[in-house]
Amino acid sequence: MCGISAYIGYREAYPIVVNGLKRLEYRGYDSAGLVIYDGKKMQLSKTKGKVSDLELITDKEEGRKKGNIGMGHTRWATHGVPNDINSHPHFSQSGDLVIVHNGIIENYDTIRKELITRGYVFESDTDTEVLINLIEEVKLNEGCKLGKAVQLALTSVVGAYAIAVFDKTKPDELVVARLGSPIAIGVGKEKKEFFIASDASPFVEYTKNAIYLEDEEMAIIKIGKKVKVRKIHDDSIVDPIIQKLQMSLEQIEKGGYDHFMLKEIHEQPKAITDTFRGRMLAKENMIKMSSIEDNLDKFLNADRIIIVACGTSWHAGLVAEYLIEDMARIPVEVEYASEFRYRNPIITDKDIVIAISQSGETADTLAAIKLAKSKGAFVYGVCNVVGSSIARETHTGAYTHAGPEIGVASTKAFTTQITVLTLIALKLGQANKSLSDEVFENYIQKMELIPKQVEKLLEIDEHVKSIAAVYKDATNCLYLGRGFNFPVALEGALKLKEISYIHAEGYPAAEMKHGPIALIDENMPIFVIATNKGHYEKVVSNIQEIKARSGKIIAVVTEGDTQVRDIADHVIEIPDTEDALTPLLTTIPFQLLSYHIAVMLNKNVDQPRNLAKSVTVE
Ligand code: AGP
Repeated sequence: MCGISAYIGYREAYPIVVNGLKRLEYRGYDSAGLVIYDGKKMQLSKTKGKVSDLELITDKEEGRKKGNIGMGHTRWATHGVPNDINSHPHFSQSGDLVIVHNGIIENYDTIRKELITRGYVFESDTDTEVLINLIEEVKLNEGCKLGKAVQLALTSVVGAYAIAVFDKTKPDELVVARLGSPIAIGVGKEKKEFFIASDASPFVEYTKNAIYLEDEEMAIIKIGKKVKVRKIHDDSIVDPIIQKLQMSLEQIEKGGYDHFMLKEIHEQPKAITDTFRGRMLAKENMIKMSSIEDNLDKFLNADRIIIVACGTSWHAGLVAEYLIEDMARIPVEVEYASEFRYRNPIITDKDIVIAISQSGETADTLAAIKLAKSKGAFVYGVCNVVGSSIARETHTGAYTHAGPEIGVASTKAFTTQITVLTLIALKLGQANKSLSDEVFENYIQKMELIPKQVEKLLEIDEHVKSIAAVYKDATNCLYLGRGFNFPVALEGALKLKEISYIHAEGYPAAEMKHGPIALIDENMPIFVIATNKGHYEKVVSNIQEIKARSGKIIAVVTEGDTQVRDIADHVIEIPDTEDALTPLLTTIPFQLLSYHIAVMLNKNVDQPRNLAKSVTVE
């Protein structure tokens, strides 16, 4: 959580830092701040609220925008409520050092008490102000340069961090470091300028050359010099690898849509096609996935597969459980990463762990991977963000290739995760002969149609919008599905909750009778997935039970369905496909529905309250 955007070079730092913060706002948006150094003064502006609120302040303080060095921060509060004082950047007591920080210093209270005994006075409630004063204390005590002081200070902190630190007495350098939270360094032409950010999006239009720090690494960035990287704890020198960015500016802009979420919903046909690329060879009736092929023995001889993930990615994992067990007959368990990591699970070297994450930075998922590895399990990652911590921590894996997902509510990340997981299930099912050639080939041919079917499905937007208008004032909603579509019901409910703040629950349709049915009255909208295969008659019975209690039914059905149409209040049709592939389609109407309800309720669709895109704290 929290976004860092900093610049050192020859351009005006202010617009680079502010635009960078806007692109990183998905990481947290309860307060924002920046400091610009003009060679004489550290010009600080910070406020509770969004980057746009910060801009309003700096607009009134025009003079504060000049200078070629700047550091900015957009915050998701951990220590201290979101207010002006707790916003970053934070200064050291002397006023010489300034820091922006993403992460949590867990032993900050002990350090703070110690520093207070040495005469330090703190303005804010943050762990970050403690850290910058610790760095200052070390610098004064040791009589060392900033880089050494940062390194020594970090050896005595416990927790997670990505930091950028500036010392006005050494104004040609910035020091950055990471442990558990990401940091990228954009290297400008002839090293005349450098960009520092939580991901590469703030500097993609300036340079395609990026260095991603690894955990426990720090870098000294000096104008005109090669970036010096070293390990924080053992002081060893690291030769930094400069990676070429694949990201383009268009990918991270709204491209004419009102919101990133809507753009990302509409990008799904392309995103799924990109996920297929090089893997789905429909003409040859083949799936090519080297990460599976190279480890086929491990997969086929595994006792079980354990899937770990959080939120929407966990829902994708649940779909995968149904897929892998059905298609490949390998036992699968799906775990919330946050529970798995702390419940002393039984894991052996005969287990395969699949970790699913859009961002590749979710702290609980990362910790679950480390735990599984420590017990000897082989860990496979399904990630969207290339080069992310989870992608690097897993033994191997597959990228989803969804492209940058900026809206906090996951949409294309979910469908592309399911796409990859379906390919894996099919590949394993073919390899261990749980699927006959005929069934496998039928799946391939049906799978190939999915991007076009999603494209067609997106044409229902106006119809879904009209349904959203009817139910936008509901205070409670139920989402029901069975089999492959039970996780889609959970995901539908999560989407509605997170962006419209309407209470919603997802249930397996048959579970309704064991409790939730008590909630049903004439005010309760119930969204039911009733596609024509898998348990169709059972779901129809569930719908009848709801109607008997005056609930309102909005049913997602297969095109041409007449039976449910006769009973439901509204129907939304999806194109016909195999039951196992329906989650790739049934998800779409629920994404659109949540989007339209949130817009009608005037909610902040892309940045819902209290949330952040990547949860890098546990
Ligand atoms: C989904 O809309 C949410 N933003 C959230 O549940 C998310 O899926 C979860 O935090 C996991 O994130 P990850 O996929 O980046 O690990």
